Amino acid sequence: MRFDRVIRGGHVVTPGGAFTGDVGIIGEKIAALGAGLDTDNADVVDATGHHVIPGVLDVHVHLELPFCGTVSADDYRTGTRAGARGGVTTVIDFAIPSATGSLSEAADTWMKKAEGKSLIDYTFHICITRYNEHKDQIADMVKRGFTTFKEFMIYESEGWQSDDRALFGTLEKMKEHGAMLLVHAESSRVLDELIARHHTPALMKEHGAVLHAITRPNFIEAEAIQRVVQWSEATGGQLYIVHMSTAEGADIVTAAQARGVPVLAETCVQYLVLDDSVFAGVDGHLFACCPQLKKPADSERLWRGLKRGEVCVISTDTCTFTREQKAMWEGDWTKIPMGLPGLETLLPLTYTKGVLEGRLTLDEMSRKLSTNPARIMGLAPRKGAIQVGADADIAIIHPTRTHKVVPSEMETNADWSPYAGWDLAGFARTTLSRGDVIVDDYKVVGNPGRGQWLPRTTAGLAGARA
Ligand code: URP
Ligand code: ZN
Ligand code: ZN
Repeated sequence: MRFDRVIRGGHVVTPGGAFTGDVGIIGEKIAALGAGLDTDNADVVDATGHHVIPGVLDVHVHLELPFCGTVSADDYRTGTRAGARGGVTTVIDFAIPSATGSLSEAADTWMKKAEGKSLIDYTFHICITRYNEHKDQIADMVKRGFTTFKEFMIYESEGWQSDDRALFGTLEKMKEHGAMLLVHAESSRVLDELIARHHTPALMKEHGAVLHAITRPNFIEAEAIQRVVQWSEATGGQLYIVHMSTAEGADIVTAAQARGVPVLAETCVQYLVLDDSVFAGVDGHLFACCPQLKKPADSERLWRGLKRGEVCVISTDTCTFTREQKAMWEGDWTKIPMGLPGLETLLPLTYTKGVLEGRLTLDEMSRKLSTNPARIMGLAPRKGAIQVGADADIAIIHPTRTHKVVPSEMETNADWSPYAGWDLAGFARTTLSRGDVIVDDYKVVGNPGRGQWLPRTTAGLAGARA
């Protein structure tokens, strides 16, 4: 067989196990796996001494999002370049309706943000922010190729908050349409009460950004997860908890899965590698994200959940704000634009802290970053695995070579990084997206706008652990 491109001699991670050999690519697709593939007239990418892994899917990003009185600083141009440098070949963003807009308009708005700019493939979760109006639009959105929806249990001031009736009704609709509901689970009323109790000049002077952690104890997340899991159990609707950050949340999900509740849970890499001690540091306010960074014991529980299967996906919740944007806080933690940059460091952090430090095997990492997100979000078998017939979305990483995280040298628009100064292995030496080399020798070489929207017909795993 003749190939357009052959990735030669790497340690190739596939669903059937790893082997040392070649990946043959014809056009946009993987056409063959094996040893000694024909390289006549083919472009050869030497992967000797490197891991060849499936391109990463970051299924939780917010690019150019109007939020917290500003707009997140990475758009589809910078955000997807940052992703590519970290081996990310697909992103899923959240299309959020305007104050009066429909679900369809939200999708159109996010399509426009991505078109002409995205380096890699993309799609969107559709956010239901006004259940009464939006509930009857779900069926048409599924027909249009969107099979994942999102509701927020907080963010009343943004106009995004859903109540129990909305969660319950939307989960019923998910069951009806074979779709999946993603939920940001935090308990809004108690959270608001804790914020109000602490929102005094004296406490703000005393604690500064540490108030973000003080007002978000673990039960804020745990109670909300418990409640929405109950609605999933009652309706049979497929539920996916986004950015789970607590040990208690992981315990609730584990117990629910054991009872057969169709609930899946994602965590984000920042909850695995950072903890809330950062808020007491210089520039602690920069680290404010939502839900909050928790304790080392929570991180350990989440790593264990990844290993055992109750936590099935690692994402980033990329929502980048610059130092200038974060300075809007002026000493009041409730005014900090909440979110962290992340796309560029997802794979390096997971590889360095997960694989090299013995918490996950390489195969487990690829399942959490690629295979599971693709299956759960309805993008398999096209995405998420190195197998014949799949898109040739591939990251080639050196097993040990590290790069220091230096914000000024990164692709993201962030002028700071939660990981500045960290030495991380796992940056992509080469990234391929649908057969094109978009990162070569650690530098982005692909063109903006080549990324494509990915229509879907399915979502969820009906309660399976992954
Ligand atoms: O701090 C965060 N996570 N900002 C983005 C919005 C969200 O809740 O995911
Ligand atoms: Zn959220
Ligand atoms: Zn988010």
